[in-house]
Amino acid sequence: MSTVAVAKSSFGWVRDLVLTELGIVLDEGKDYLVESRLLPIVKREGLESIEALVLLLKTGRAPVALKRAVLDAMTTNETTFLRDTTPFEVLQTSVLPKLIEARRAKRKLRIWYAATSTGQEPYSVSMIINDHFPELLGWNLEQIGTDVSRHALDRAKAGRFSQLEVNRGLPAKLLIKHFKKEGQDWQLNDNIRKMIRLEEMNLNGAWPVITGTYDIVFIRNVLIYFDVPAKKKIMGRIYDLLAPDGFMFLGAAETTLNLDERFTRAEGGRGGCYKRAEPR
Ligand SMILES: C[S@@+](CC[C@H](N)C(=O)[O-])C[C@H]1O[C@@H](n2cnc3c(N)ncnc32)[C@H](O)[C@@H]1O
Repeated sequence: MSTVAVAKSSFGWVRDLVLTELGIVLDEGKDYLVESRLLPIVKREGLESIEALVLLLKTGRAPVALKRAVLDAMTTNETTFLRDTTPFEVLQTSVLPKLIEARRAKRKLRIWYAATSTGQEPYSVSMIINDHFPELLGWNLEQIGTDVSRHALDRAKAGRFSQLEVNRGLPAKLLIKHFKKEGQDWQLNDNIRKMIRLEEMNLNGAWPVITGTYDIVFIRNVLIYFDVPAKKKIMGRIYDLLAPDGFMFLGAAETTLNLDERFTRAEGGRGGCYKRAEPR
């Protein structure tokens, strides 16, 4: 017989912590998730149970790093290269050509990846830029990737991917051109890896590393985890920092509908691409 390893009160405490700190909603019945994500921490810390971990955190005497580790463990870092394909096609065939035309005089382009995870998304775009828009490499091209998960960011910074990870979405041509086999893994070449600046940042807090306006914002497959007030707040902040002719990409299951009507679908709504609506 299976036993529930997370007491209701501990689940409630973790759920409140994750909502307050990250804006992430853990629905009732997600105790299995709390269990599977926190048990490795319980073991590592030599604690007896999740209850003991929660109790320690509740005292306020736990090291900051432990709370951070718990929050990090509760994030879902699922991602793939060229995830969903269409957004990257829209980017390559329409969005980048338009922005290059519009920014040709200033030769400056800024892209923000707001939930970078382990890096597959920004590195997919960087390979597209390198292979199809070499002109941009001579511009002031700023690409910043942020995520609240230090664990995911460390992996992104390393640019080292398993066979399984490169098998998911990455065409063989790109693998051979941009990676080197190292043992069981594939190491991304430095010219692509260095195109992205990676910073730890909580979307549900201050955004110290995000300054000025951005031409493209990728915020894909992260808002789905947030409650409506958090989604609205983040959408509003992105609206304010998006260039008037800039583009925002959302995940396939995400929309601005009922969250911020100042956005409108762009490029025929393909690939979750949005822009600022014309003022009425
Ligand atoms: C499912 S991944 C999406 C990765 C990528 N954008 C994609 O679409 O493939 C979601 C990412 O959002 C991050 N995340 C969750 N809550 C966050 C928050 N409050 N602030 C910043 N990043 C957060 C997680 O750490 C995770 O890496």
